[in-house]
Amino acid sequence: MFNDQKVSFSGVQPSGNLTIGNYLGALRNFSTYSEKYKTFYCVVDEHAITVRQVPADLRRRTYETLALYMACGLDPAKNTLYVQSHVHEHAELGWILNCFTMFGELSRMTQFKDKSVKHADNINAGLFTYPVLMAADILLYQTDVVPVGVDQKQHVEICRDIATRFNQLYPDTFTIPEPVVAKTGMKIMSLAEPTKKMSKSDENSNAVVYILDDRDTIMRKFKRAVTDSDSVVRYAEGKDGINNLMSIYACFTGKTFEEIEREFSGLGYGAFKEAVGQACADALAPVQEQFRTFMADKAMLEEQMKKGAEEASWYARRTLSKVQKRLGFTQFR
Ligand code: TYM
Repeated sequence: MFNDQKVSFSGVQPSGNLTIGNYLGALRNFSTYSEKYKTFYCVVDEHAITVRQVPADLRRRTYETLALYMACGLDPAKNTLYVQSHVHEHAELGWILNCFTMFGELSRMTQFKDKSVKHADNINAGLFTYPVLMAADILLYQTDVVPVGVDQKQHVEICRDIATRFNQLYPDTFTIPEPVVAKTGMKIMSLAEPTKKMSKSDENSNAVVYILDDRDTIMRKFKRAVTDSDSVVRYAEGKDGINNLMSIYACFTGKTFEEIEREFSGLGYGAFKEAVGQACADALAPVQEQFRTFMADKAMLEEQMKKGAEEASWYARRTLSKVQKRLGFTQFR
């Protein structure tokens, strides 16, 4: 809460091409807060370097992520859209919060365990303290709600623990944030291995539908999606592939599982996959068109980055200064 206004904050890493998991689990929900909340949506480039990045790719994806925010309906006049490294208070509060976060609690983070296996040659300290920087992102803006996919819920929970611990020592410093996980779309699974989360870093591009895939590619990927030997479209245990396709279709059409089961009764998987592909391509077409328009105007994107950083810095400075005072850091005007 900032000046009696509730705050929504979220972030996306520019670490790969964004997927329909990012879109359905997070991005498309961000704009629902624009009217009633003060909203901050950040491109978290500092988080992205916890795994090695090619500099030119990181730079391009940072622009692309900002353009996608706007293409997903986030008007920069109503939402503060900015890049994490442009607001140095994130890293500074991150350091302070490191001193209020326990080794044991970071060791329990499932994303750290997964990424340590995947990047066994680069288990750096940043990968380990990743959730602390994320807590700094959220707490700097006195955030009330954090719209995220289910995989980030644990990180918002540790952020709450850190903020509660800090507030016990230094009362009324931070607002305690709530994770908000959408009912449908909270965890979109891989099309090739439907027990695994769809991830932008998956090496098998057929397992992942990217927001910017063209219609033919989307249709082909859904056609190849792994299902089961049954042929009835129904949501049930053990039918991970079909359950995932039903969730995706439900997200894009707003239909319930019962409605979907009725719609495809007697039709088999081929017709169902075709319909999922069409619904996905139809929904993404206007986003892609807007994205292309925004990407063609780099000067406008840079202007937005600058404006967003200035807006965010104002809020970030206030919280950081409050924290520094409480800790006993000396300050002068
Ligand atoms: P990232 O970049 O991995 O993902 C961005 C958002 O997309 C959601 N998401 C999914 N939702 C449903 N199904 C999927 N398959 C799927 N894959 C990704 C994520 O849950 C996330 O909401 N640590 C964060 C970025 C971050 C952040 C923050 C988020 C940094 N600071 C502060 C919120 C608040 C991350 O890596 O997201």
